[in-house]
This record gives sequence, C-alpha cells and structure tokens, in this order.
Amino acid sequence: MRFSTSSGALALGALLLAGPALAQDSPAAHTVTSPGDIHTVTFTLRDGAPFYRVDRLGAPLILDSRLGLVLKDGPSMDADFTVADSSTRSFDETWTTVWGESDSIRNNYNELRVQLRSDTQPPRTLDIVFRAFDDGVGLRYEVPEQEGLGAFEIMDELTEFAMTGDHMAWWIGAYQDNRYEYLTNHTPVSEFETAITPLTMETDDGVAIAIHEAALLNYSSMTLRSTGNATLEADLIPWSDGVRVKTAAPMVTPWRTIQASDGPGGLIESDLVLNLNEPNKIEDTSWIEPGKYVGIWWEMHLGTSSWSIGETHGATTENTKRYIDFAAEHGFSGVLVEGWNKGWEQGWVGTGDHFSFTDPYPDFDLEYLAKYAVEKGTRLIGHHETGGGIENYERQMADAYALYNDLGVRAVKTGYVAFGPNLQRTGADGQKHGEWHHGQWMVEHYQRSVEEAAKHQVMVNIHEPIKDTGIRRTWPNLMTREGARGQEYNAWNEEGSNPPDHTVIVPFTRMLGGPFDYTPGIVELLLPARPNNRIQATLARELAHYVTIYSPLQMAADLPENYEAHPEPFAFIKAVPADWAETRVLHAEIGDYLTMVRKDRDSEDWYLGSTTDEHGRLLKAPLAFLTPGVTYTAQIYRDSADADWESNPYGFIVEEKTVTSADVLDLRLAPGGGQAIRFTPAE
Ligand code: NOJ
Repeated sequence: MRFSTSSGALALGALLLAGPALAQDSPAAHTVTSPGDIHTVTFTLRDGAPFYRVDRLGAPLILDSRLGLVLKDGPSMDADFTVADSSTRSFDETWTTVWGESDSIRNNYNELRVQLRSDTQPPRTLDIVFRAFDDGVGLRYEVPEQEGLGAFEIMDELTEFAMTGDHMAWWIGAYQDNRYEYLTNHTPVSEFETAITPLTMETDDGVAIAIHEAALLNYSSMTLRSTGNATLEADLIPWSDGVRVKTAAPMVTPWRTIQASDGPGGLIESDLVLNLNEPNKIEDTSWIEPGKYVGIWWEMHLGTSSWSIGETHGATTENTKRYIDFAAEHGFSGVLVEGWNKGWEQGWVGTGDHFSFTDPYPDFDLEYLAKYAVEKGTRLIGHHETGGGIENYERQMADAYALYNDLGVRAVKTGYVAFGPNLQRTGADGQKHGEWHHGQWMVEHYQRSVEEAAKHQVMVNIHEPIKDTGIRRTWPNLMTREGARGQEYNAWNEEGSNPPDHTVIVPFTRMLGGPFDYTPGIVELLLPARPNNRIQATLARELAHYVTIYSPLQMAADLPENYEAHPEPFAFIKAVPADWAETRVLHAEIGDYLTMVRKDRDSEDWYLGSTTDEHGRLLKAPLAFLTPGVTYTAQIYRDSADADWESNPYGFIVEEKTVTSADVLDLRLAPGGGQAIRFTPAE
C-alpha cells in the first residue's frame, strides 16, 4: 500500500492495524511495545494519577514516572482520573527528506492512546499518547475540546523521568544568561539542579539515553530539574508572570522523547525526533538548497573589521565583491554579509530596537551586489541581527524577507544576541516585560519568522535560537542554527577557546536536536590578529568537522586570503557536500572520539570524518560501508606523525590510497587532531 503525505514525500506502506505487540496487561495497565520488541511502555493509574514506565529489552529504562498538567484555574489534569478508553495502532512509512543526513527515513512505531476522564467538577478529559519505536519512546498530552475549558494556563507539567540509577550525564544548566552557549559538564544526574535538553546519559552497563522534545510549537521549552534521587522532572521555562503555557483547548503538547541505544553512536543515528514532527508543509521546495558559504564574518570576530559603518567597516561594496569573486571562483553557493544594514552604530548587544532590516549602509550597494552575485553564479546570504529587539523585528520581518526575495537572496541568518530573561515584550498593561529566549513567547516568535520566511521563499539559519526539536521536517526552510558554543568563541572568548573535547561532545548532546552552524574550516589556526586566542585543533581536525558536525548551510569560515595560503586543506572544504544520502557512525565515545561516514546525495562518493579529544588515538575503520566490488581512491587528509593541536597544529599530510570495502584503515589521530577522507570510485 502506498501512502503519500501533503509534501508528496514517498511513503512505503503505511499500515494501520492492531499489532500482536499491543496487548493490555490487566485492567489497570496498558502497554505498547516497539515493532522490534525493544521498548515497552506501560501506562497505569495510581489512585487516579497517571504514571508510565519504559522497559528496554526486558529491563527497566525509566521507572514508574508521574504524568499530568497543573492548570491555573479549575481542576488540574493530574489526578482523579479513570481510563475512559484506550486504543492502539501501528504505523510504518518511509519518507523522503528535502535535504539532510539521509535521503529517506523510516518512521515505524506502535502507538498507545489512553483517554482519561476525571470525576472533578467540571470533569476534565485528557489523552496521553505513547509511541514506542525501536530507538526510543515519544509521549505527549492532547487536551481535547471539552466543556468548561476554552483558553487556559498551564502552571506546571508534571512529567517525570525516573532513571534507574544516578547515571553519568552530559549537561548544561538551564536558566543561564548566555542561553545554550556553555561547555558541557559531566557528572551524575544527582549533581545538577537544572539542565537543558537534549540531556544525554550513560548507564553503568553502557546504555546511552537522551531526553529531549520534538515539535516544540505553541508551548514553552522543557528543561529538566533533578530531584537529587535520580528522578528528572519537566521544568517548563515560564513567562515573566510565572505562567508556563498560555493555550486553549483543543491543543497538543510537544512530544517528550526518550532515545536509547546500546552505546552512544545509536543516538546520533536515531531519527526519532524528526519522526515525531509533522510532514513537510512547503509544497514547492525547489528553492530550498543546502550549500556551502563564505562570508564577511570571521574578520569581525577577529576584530580586524567592524559591523558598524566607519573606517574598518567590513560590509563595503568593494569587500563584498572580493568575497563574491572568491565564492564564484571556488564554487560556494552563498556569501554571508554581516553589518550591511543601518543600526549597528547605535550598539546591538541586547539593544536591537533601532535596527533597520531594509536600509543598507551607504557604502553597501545591496541591489548591485545581489545582482552581481547571481550573475557570478552565487548568492548573497542576508543577515538580520535583532539584538533581541523582537517587536522591532516583527514589525519589519515580512518586508525584509520580501526584499530578499525580490533581490534573489535565498537565505538569511538571523541573530538574537541578548542575555537572560531580558527580551522586551510589551504586555497588555502597556509595560515592558523581560522574557527568556526559551519561553513560549519566543518559541512562537521563532516559528513566525520561519513561516513568514517560507512565504517569501527564504531559508533561515538562526543564531541564539530556540533549541532544535526537528521542525525542519515540517518547515524545511529552517535549515540550521547555532544553539551551542560555535567557532566564534575561539576568536574572542576571554576564558579560553573551545577545548578539543567540545566537538566530540556536541554531536551526542545538542546535535541530537538537529544541525549546528558551528562554522568550521579555520585553516589559520593561530590567529595572528588575536594573539591571546587560538583554535584548539589540528588542520586535519578542522576538515573532519565537515563530516562530524552536520549543517545543510555549511560555512567555510576563514578569510579568502587564508584559504589561498592553504590550498591543500581547502581542496577538501571545496569538495565536501552539505547534503547526504546516508550517514553512519563508526566509532563513538562521548567526549573522547567520534568517527562518522556519510554518502554524498549527488554522487557515489563517501566521506569520513574522525576527531578525538586532547588524547591521540589509533582507531581501526572497516570500510564495509563502501560498495562491495568497487575500487575507490581514498584522498586522505591526516595528522602528521608529529602533529599536536598545541605544539604542531599544522602537522598535516595529504595522500592517496586505493581501497575497497574489504579494507580496514588505521586512523591515527594526533592529540586534538582528526582525519578527513574522500572516497571516490576509481575510473
Ligand atoms: C552572534 C552570532 O553567533 C555571530 O555569528 C554573529 O556574527 C554575531 N552574533 C553578530 O550578529
């Protein structure tokens, strides 16, 4: 049976049937098991309060954990329930991606829906839906239309995740000034108070678990509060008045996700978060194109030019032409230009109300440059730094995207540099109220921006974003985002640059949500313009990041003159794609090392990227992913024997080997090093 989605995505066999795995244990327990018998969810009511539990391969993964919603007025939805009805169904389809880490994704789960009714006055009805996948579990609340419930406010979501022990967790604290831009801590769960998601944990017996959410829309984002006894509680970022969510029936919450695998590599390969999002809503996707870009960007972070107009202004017509020429010569599809618009001269960090998003500075000829870029076979990438001036941006957004559309600019990078709960919202009382980047007000703003941009056929790359919860499946113009410490920290952070383990942690944590605009590819590692800063990487490692840190808009972040001075590593950056047919993890140890291989969507080439922390390593890479019987040329970009991020970051060797799928390559990685390989079928 064929099943097609509104996007026209290819779906292979979407079957709706009551599977044998969907059984009811007893009148009080309702269970559902994943298609391959890996995960079982059990729902129970205890004295009228809803609980769930998850077992993995017959052993507990999540112990009995509370569910429920606390409402501001009237009876809550957390107790006094009986099960009015329950049903199960199975689902199996394969959908095609517009772009991404793989060209098609199988979405296969068994679902349990429990319909609850309370004996309160008025009675409340609440559905809780569980989807059991072989790579984890999703659950969400659905509040149906019901008498006595129109608009309502949620004061607390009671969802718990009772872990089976005090697992070691990779975490970043929630409610911090600098949003998600921190290095990751590694301690037992009991040792943090709050954490952002994805939160990744490892059990003593090697199971990797990540808790996150999918389809975060019209709701506030979920953080996790540790109770100190290995139980994590959902903690929704509040509005400035303390309410967590302002909503109306009927409504659905985002999915709460629990991904689990034997070892951490499986978390990276899991598509559960995307599968819990709705299919693509953009009919004509011909304008959505992944690609690589250069930009007037690193020079500002190095401090050699300025965003603001003046003697060292970066975004001049002349300088932009230089970047366009460079992009055209080397095959980059985009040229990002920051500092092109009026307003920077009045300051911007947390103060964006004066920005214009349609008026260029007088030394930047927007129309001419946009046209020049298209003539040369590339395109400008627009930039909107809001400085957190949300209402100012909302007033201009539609016009600004329409302008880009008129000029043939197909992508915009947006920015929200502001700190803590200080995004100014004008309330019904006419007063300003400070909101978080991660509360419901901003979740809705980011979404409006993406949907408005889609109307004007503009792709979006968000910096200082809301975390990624897989909305790119529904809105594939939402290409990439920051939401972690990026390369820029290496240029100016006073406490130090990103240590080598940073990029062998984020693929297992932040990136379980989705792509990261890390902006790799710095080849002038010692930053002469910033003598107190440097990149903590070898040259080969910077190349490997193009494979291990996925972004469909992937930057070549360094200056044109630095690439011209380093043609050998630049050859890899020019070749590596930003859109893949297939992705696999070969080696994975969180915080230690990661090897990934990906197949190009447009050719038979495969790419390998491997990175390590501050320790050197020898990893054996079986090439079984290559097509058997085909001989490949492997272009190997590796650390030299004496390479070391600290003492010899430029120790770099490029060599070629002939290989087949039967070979096993030795990947010798220097301390802070890496290796990048392109495999091309030999003639
Ligand atoms: C912070 C962003 O992460 C960075 O990429 C950008 O250059 C500045 N804001 C200015 O918008």
